[in-house]
Amino acid sequence: MKSITLTQYLIEQQREKGAVSAELRLLIEVVARACKRISHAVSKGALGGVLGGAGTDNIQGEAQKKLDVIANEVLVEANEWGGHLAALASEEMEHPHQIPSRYPRGEFLLLMDPLDGSSNIDVNVSIGTIFSVLRCPDGVVDPDEKAFLQPGTNQVAAGFAVYGPCTILVLTVGAGVAAFTLDRELGSFVMTQSEIKLSPDTQEFAINASNMRNWEAPVRRYIDECLAGKTGVRGKDFNMRWVASMVADVFRILSRGGIFMYPCDAKHKAGRLRLMYEANPMAFIIEQAGGAATDGRRRIMEIQPEQLHQRVGVVLGSKAEVDRVTQYHLEAPARA
Ligand code: F6P
Repeated sequence: MKSITLTQYLIEQQREKGAVSAELRLLIEVVARACKRISHAVSKGALGGVLGGAGTDNIQGEAQKKLDVIANEVLVEANEWGGHLAALASEEMEHPHQIPSRYPRGEFLLLMDPLDGSSNIDVNVSIGTIFSVLRCPDGVVDPDEKAFLQPGTNQVAAGFAVYGPCTILVLTVGAGVAAFTLDRELGSFVMTQSEIKLSPDTQEFAINASNMRNWEAPVRRYIDECLAGKTGVRGKDFNMRWVASMVADVFRILSRGGIFMYPCDAKHKAGRLRLMYEANPMAFIIEQAGGAATDGRRRIMEIQPEQLHQRVGVVLGSKAEVDRVTQYHLEAPARA
């Protein structure tokens, strides 16, 4: 089989489908290059001195790991000088990062979760990087937080890297979803899955069951029905998986179907995951692969963000299952 690198794929998307401009191609290649550096740091583990806490907290009050800080620095450094960005925002930075005046500015806004799945860093379980690309609104010269507050439907590209047994980059530019595996000898991302399509049904669900006592009735109903298996209304057995790294759970779902939920509950009233750099990019990818993504009631990509670091409930994956969970929410009395 002829191997297609990420660069070739992007050039083809640019030439044949018009889905990518030269500037967007540069942006994606720069992010991919930064992911290679992060992958290298991750693979060194304790030998590279990258494990453990950084001794600082991020804006959400969560203790930062050394790799959270390293990944953020790698992505900022890689992206600020190329001339493709108007500004960038990150889970690890309270406010958007302005492009230094010595560098040219471009038309795009980059949002990122530099190191997703932080609790898995020190235990050698898959972790990753998530990113989302928006256009800087017309006429905005110094983009502040307001410039970023656009619904997910405005995304022009989204992707994530999984640093697992191999490093995989999943990408959409709005014309389907493709996955690329890092060939370490060549130093290139090589396409290993094209036109990823999610099966509409599934027998596998992913949810942190330790939150069960806090779940709302529609979530409880859906999971209870899955757990009842062959003997219940679903008439089939279900399996459960929870990696606790969204990148790994979503990659599994893209590969063999499934549903992922981190819903709003009595403890996480506004949800646990971040709308702009976790839920939106994953929703874009999942929808491009034929799946669906809601907050239980609304399509995630149609939510108008009010804050850069806002949280949201997340239900995403195989369409028939997500539709079912959403239906259960819509049938239930509205949340107080
Ligand atoms: O912060 C994001 C994240 O690490 C996701 O990658 C993952 O799905 C979730 O949090 C894990 O949450 P919990 O610690 O409740 O299992």
